[in-house]
Amino acid sequence: MRIFKSAEEMQHWSLEQRISGQTIGLVPTMGYLHNGHLSLLNLARSECDIVVVSIFVNPTQFGFGEDFGKYPRDEEGDSSMCNEYGVDALFIPDADEMYASDASVYVEENSLSNGLCGVLRPGHFTGVCTVVAKLFNIVLPHKSIFGQKDYQQAVVIQRMIRDLNFPVELKVAPIVREQDGVALSSRNVYLSEDERERAHTISVSLEMVHEKFFAGEVDAKVLKELIVENLQEASLDIDYVEIVDGALLTPVESVDMGDVVLIAAYCGKTRLIDNCIF
Ligand code: PAJ
Repeated sequence: MRIFKSAEEMQHWSLEQRISGQTIGLVPTMGYLHNGHLSLLNLARSECDIVVVSIFVNPTQFGFGEDFGKYPRDEEGDSSMCNEYGVDALFIPDADEMYASDASVYVEENSLSNGLCGVLRPGHFTGVCTVVAKLFNIVLPHKSIFGQKDYQQAVVIQRMIRDLNFPVELKVAPIVREQDGVALSSRNVYLSEDERERAHTISVSLEMVHEKFFAGEVDAKVLKELIVENLQEASLDIDYVEIVDGALLTPVESVDMGDVVLIAAYCGKTRLIDNCIF
């Protein structure tokens, strides 16, 4: 496995791969890799000749007071996991390599980013779009794999690809869960035993409304209320519970196939997100 810290060297190598006719699949991550990330690598492998993983805890997508400083990091573990998984190249730049100290150009999405996670995390999606745009320009992928776990992120990136004409095809991989249903997340390491148990309510609630929907309940208000009650009972601090159109992310009143129910809630100090597509 090749390891690149320099954007220029990464770009040069990718260009050579493209010239020799190889297709490149990029999996952007912030590291501390788990089986959710690995599922994206598998999808990249099945779709492309070359798999590139980026690991970069992107400072511009963390707001003031968020967990940038203590975000879990394990370069060595991640690197050997990628190696075992047959990743062709790992791009693992420093912050200085990604952002000039006087960087002044950012990529802003101004519609889909406004709701859901964008409300409590202003600027978050500008950070995400900017770093992903940079990664596309550095790694030059044909395809890029994102997880449904960050549903809004995938939709925002798809819009960026469309609006800025990136020649990249976005693929979305399903959510990988623990045996009890809790969505895998690098942030799950923050949870105490008690919090981990309470966090379970999130996936249980999603499953519950999914079943209710298929049993005929289509009133979004009723379904959301069921979730809110469940989360409150488990003493989770709700950021939002929304049921939205899967493409436009606008709230729906009557739920239809393809709509998405999304939850963001604090379990103790840890903010967790999860979702389910009807
Ligand atoms: P990170 O949180 O490391 O996630 C990297 C990718 O893994 C994202 O596309 C995310 O949706 C996916 N992922 C995380 N948990 C998953 C799970 N349980 N099942 C399936 N996929 C999962 O998302 C980011 O990093 C950053 O915002 C990034 C896109 C790298 C930009 O900095």
